[in-house]
Amino acid sequence: MPEKAIDSQTYIEYVKRINDSRISPPLAHIHNYGCQLNVSDGEKMKGQLMKMGFGFTDSAENADLVLFNTCAVREGAQERVLGNLGFLKHYKELNKNMIIGIGGCMTQQSQVAEKIKQSYRFVDLVFGTGSISKLPQMIYDVYNGRKCCEHTENDLSLNEGIEQVRDSAFKASVPIMYGCNNFCTYCIVPYVRGRERSRSPRLIIDEVTKLVDSGYKEIMLLGQNVNSYGNDLEDENTTFPQLLRMINDIPGEFIIRFMSSHPKDATPELIDAIIECPKAAKHLHLPVQSGSNEILDKMNRRYTVQKYLETVDYARSKISDFSFTTDIIVGFPNESNEDFEKTLDIMRTVRYDNIYSFIYSVREGTKAALIEDRTPHSEKQERMQRLLELQREISTQSYKRFEGRVLDVLVDSTGRSGEGSLTGKSNEFVIVNFSGDRSLIGNFVKVKITKAHNWALDGELVED
Ligand code: 5AD
Ligand code: SF4
Repeated sequence: MPEKAIDSQTYIEYVKRINDSRISPPLAHIHNYGCQLNVSDGEKMKGQLMKMGFGFTDSAENADLVLFNTCAVREGAQERVLGNLGFLKHYKELNKNMIIGIGGCMTQQSQVAEKIKQSYRFVDLVFGTGSISKLPQMIYDVYNGRKCCEHTENDLSLNEGIEQVRDSAFKASVPIMYGCNNFCTYCIVPYVRGRERSRSPRLIIDEVTKLVDSGYKEIMLLGQNVNSYGNDLEDENTTFPQLLRMINDIPGEFIIRFMSSHPKDATPELIDAIIECPKAAKHLHLPVQSGSNEILDKMNRRYTVQKYLETVDYARSKISDFSFTTDIIVGFPNESNEDFEKTLDIMRTVRYDNIYSFIYSVREGTKAALIEDRTPHSEKQERMQRLLELQREISTQSYKRFEGRVLDVLVDSTGRSGEGSLTGKSNEFVIVNFSGDRSLIGNFVKVKITKAHNWALDGELVED
């Protein structure tokens, strides 16, 4: 066993001994902000805490240990964390023994870690994304009266071998790679998550096999750009389409999803693999960001609208209503009204089933942060409203294609109307609401679609 693993294990035992000596187990609360990769990291933190003898609570107020697993991708997420830290300060005044830790992407930025250390002195541990395996040691140190700050400028970790406590019993996220090499000019991710590191295909296949064997029905493969999976693997050269086919060959009933896919690397081989693998969802999340070639160039996205549309056309030549979703940034510095109109144009052309849209947020340290932006914020907000309105029209129209069809749905939970109502996601990642017994949660069912709205579909359960 490598020395580091022994160390971590020893600290786990030290902390467990202390926790076990208490009358009742101390309670931990983890709050995840941001993307699914963060949620997956949070599950690893939970796995370690469980081994150290912690119980868990949904309430930060009642917790003995609170960990904020933060996101840095937009200013708003960062402000929410700092705002919620104010509440923690108050809770800690009531419970002096409360331990407070801040981890994740925000604290991976040294200036932010420094600010928290200086201005939020009630925080006991500050740690970056590459330091999850050091959590036992850090908690041990805090138990011994020492404050901790652990983050590395360049996150090189794969966080391999850390047991996870998963939030769901039927949907699992499996990171296949970490980091990003693309340096889109607006994006902080390459600075906080470091360069691309792919996990070994063997370890990924083993993990998915175990998950499927224990009843998981949805496997979500995660990476900042899954299409560059394998580029850095020296002796186990595997591309993402190959990995998809290998996972599809694992026996069992499950659906494979993945995100995100960079359009510059979305090849016909990728589309072919999706279409030829029965277990792969017939849906591609392909973040376009903008419909203007000038803006795409300033964003350093390295594709044009024409190249993007070729990928869409190729998929639709095979499945005429192949489902696409996307991310769009509104108001990149000096985006003109003309540029924005081009974004609306590409939305009309592709007819996305869903879009995730964000007003541009300045991230210190990125190239775009240096551009003097002349577009007023109020104009960006107006553009956002227009974009959302258009998307509502598009989804209303395009969801109608499902009316009368029978869709395979993985049941997620009870629906908004309470007992007797269920909600799930179709293969195309569209929300489907219908009536049924809660024992169906976590299973695939067939639902006949009766009505399309602009955000979801209504349907009726079809008996097999
Ligand atoms: N401002 C606004 N949105 C951003 N995203 C990434 N960085 C920024 C930023 N600085 C969006 C992109 C990306 C998604 C995960 O977050 O659309 O695809
Ligand atoms: Fe950020 Fe671009 Fe990398 Fe996505 S591909 S994480 S937007 S730099």
